[in-house]
Amino acid sequence: MLEPPRASATEATEYRISPGRARVALKREQGSAIEVWAYDGRIPGPEIRLRQGEPVRIVVENRLTEDTTIHWHGIRLPNAMDGVPGLTQPPIKPGGSFVYEFTPPDAGTFWYHPHADSLQQLGRGLAGALIVEEAEPVRVDRDLLWVLTDWRLGDDGQIAPGFGNRMEAAMSGRVGNTVTLNGTVPGDQSVRAGERLRLRLVNTSLARIMALRFEGHRPVVVATDGQPCDPHEPDGGKLLLGPAMRIDVIVDMQGDPGSRHAVVDDFYEGLAYELTSFAYAADAPLRKNPLDAPLRLPANPLRQPDLQDAHRLELVLQGGMMSGMGGNMMGDMMNMMSGMMQGMGGMPGTTAHGRAVWSINGTSMTGDGHAGMPPLVTLAQGRSQFVTMRNETAWWHPMHLHGFSFRVLTRNGEPAPHNQWADTVLLAPRDTVELAFVGDNPGDWMLHCHITDHQTAGLMTVLRVGDGKGKT
Ligand code: C2O
Ligand code: CU
Repeated sequence: MLEPPRASATEATEYRISPGRARVALKREQGSAIEVWAYDGRIPGPEIRLRQGEPVRIVVENRLTEDTTIHWHGIRLPNAMDGVPGLTQPPIKPGGSFVYEFTPPDAGTFWYHPHADSLQQLGRGLAGALIVEEAEPVRVDRDLLWVLTDWRLGDDGQIAPGFGNRMEAAMSGRVGNTVTLNGTVPGDQSVRAGERLRLRLVNTSLARIMALRFEGHRPVVVATDGQPCDPHEPDGGKLLLGPAMRIDVIVDMQGDPGSRHAVVDDFYEGLAYELTSFAYAADAPLRKNPLDAPLRLPANPLRQPDLQDAHRLELVLQGGMMSGMGGNMMGDMMNMMSGMMQGMGGMPGTTAHGRAVWSINGTSMTGDGHAGMPPLVTLAQGRSQFVTMRNETAWWHPMHLHGFSFRVLTRNGEPAPHNQWADTVLLAPRDTVELAFVGDNPGDWMLHCHITDHQTAGLMTVLRVGDGKGKT
């Protein structure tokens, strides 16, 4: 963990971080056998801890053999620090460096990852957690971070090649076969009866959506995507965590000393697996009754959107395999195949940067970000935005907006409970969600699906706020 020394209000704390090749063990019995791309040689990258409202300077030195950038996912920062190559900064060349400087306004659980050649760079291991500490954290016995990452390993144990498979891009994306917790396929998590844990869950996977169930326990969600919400137990006891999403839960460990309770991920039908389990020490409970301390996190300085006076924006997601559900599936499949063979003639637009199989409002931006991406719309700076997002596809999409946290207002016409804010909202097939935010941060901001294959194959656009130039 990179612990910041106390910085004075004016002087920024400095970090250095370098992406490059490394060898690690993802399974404990393996030794340092797996070739990965990693920040500072570690999977996940070093845990960066910042303090709310204190400036930071992060020097990134590129030791890869290709261009990179870092995107500070979920942090509300100046546009020029957002890490989108071509759009907000020049890419960092091999051997080159870039200095990111910002002051995180919000406390919470965030993460960082490259925004260049994302399929490979993220899929080969470049990701880390970024935690902004509250001035006064809630009282717990332990504050734990679980960085959850899905990998596709071949028979030789190495990361399987074949990133950017078009068929997968039109379906669920590159879902792998091995999930690590903080960089290794986990064994048990040792816990003590009676203790209260804060668990920060981060899904850094390319494509895998997770639905976590803590058998015998009742986790209480206290924040989504770093932003505090009304403390609540999740629907059906399941924590739904799409790629890029974070959930902070507080769990009172009420199992018996010596007992063991599985943590199961059963998102994909027929593919449930035990991620890990809570193994209770034999010790007597730490306390008799659960800790009697408040669960609610201190609020972040987010501006409430003015729903009466908001500008309305509709975003329609289309494309993918079998997008005509209920129509002729085989026909769609055939179209898709012939489309692929003919350079996707029949699918949403083909661009110079790749082939699109998805679209937002009929347009498709592909790849990772590049110069001259025209904004889909220009939004007046400071105006409240009311966004209706409609998923007309047959697939799930965790949709991420850079630079803002938005309120999740409704889902399929029902009010969304618990005052939740997010930077990445998960849409089930055919879902419609309504979101709102204040467009107070000028710049060109990306909006894309965080299933990386979907992003790179067209499920991406740019929203311009103000004149598109970020404040400096
Ligand atoms: Cu984590 Cu463009 O996003
Ligand atoms: Cu998607």
